[in-house]
Amino acid sequence: MGFNILNRSYPNTRLRRNRKSEFARSLVRENTLTADDLIYPVFVLEGENRKEEIPSMPGQFRLSVDLLVESAKEWFADGIKVIDLFPVIESNKSLLAEEAYNPNGLVQRCVRALKAELPDLGVMTDIALDPYTTHGQDGIIDNNGYVLNDITVDVLIKQALSHVEAGADIVSPSDMMDGRIGALRKALEEVGAHNVQIMSYSAKYASVFYGPFRDAVGSSGNLKGGNKYTYQMDPANGNEALHEVALDLNEGADMVMIKPGLPYLDVVRQVKDTFKVPTFAYHVSGEYAMLKAASAQGWLDYKKSVLETMICFKRAGCDGILTYCAPEIAKWLKEN
Ligand code: PBG
Repeated sequence: MGFNILNRSYPNTRLRRNRKSEFARSLVRENTLTADDLIYPVFVLEGENRKEEIPSMPGQFRLSVDLLVESAKEWFADGIKVIDLFPVIESNKSLLAEEAYNPNGLVQRCVRALKAELPDLGVMTDIALDPYTTHGQDGIIDNNGYVLNDITVDVLIKQALSHVEAGADIVSPSDMMDGRIGALRKALEEVGAHNVQIMSYSAKYASVFYGPFRDAVGSSGNLKGGNKYTYQMDPANGNEALHEVALDLNEGADMVMIKPGLPYLDVVRQVKDTFKVPTFAYHVSGEYAMLKAASAQGWLDYKKSVLETMICFKRAGCDGILTYCAPEIAKWLKEN
């Protein structure tokens, strides 16, 4: 077949052989994506029959409890096994964030309603005070606006226990206070909640990519251009992420998370290689907004760009991904 006119030498290895057809490519594919890998972050608000699209996150909605439960049935039927709740608190914000641990607060009622209707759906809740504070910071502040660590941790524990009391399966501290995982684990043990999982936002960076999320929960206005640099990590740091993860694992975290996602895949890989523990990444609101915006312009193929993004998370070492694309992905995977 063909003549070796130039008497050239042949490559010993032709990597293209394993790429020659779909069967060949799938045979050697190193990573796969399934709906089991996905956690869907959802925004919830008070009232009934309310569904508000979030302008900077097209396709994402703030849902009242009744619509949340109805939608969750569909997501679950499509293969989503875990959702993560983020409340939009329209009143009852305060300096001390008391609403965060109201036993009949919005999140607590959502958890109860979900567990009653969908006992097999994993319900995860976010532990942080920013939806509840008048200033939009994740903790309790002093007169200079500095977020006080240990007092904040005390409130976070109350918040987490109220979620667990309501039936939360996984609690997920996103506040970046020091020592909160240890304090939380101890509190959970003391109330006999031995099997409640902690997914720690271990390496959470002070990122501009959270912008649309802050619009979604309505904390950006309260923050008044302020920042979270005194507790969230500096995007310039990599080693520090390993230090954070080591502490959280020692303090009793079951799973660790790196956030944001795509720009921080080097951190994911280092964490996975170093600790070999369940490792997650949060594909955050700004990352979602970028894909939506570019595809709305016709500049990117939405489905392909999402699926490529997700497989890159897997390749980098993620066991799972928190992503706003989760319901769409679950549907696509089901169609295949
Ligand atoms: C706040 C919190 C944030 C996100 C999750 N929990 C925002 C922040 O730290 O300001 C961001 C999620 C996203 O951007 O999708 N505790």
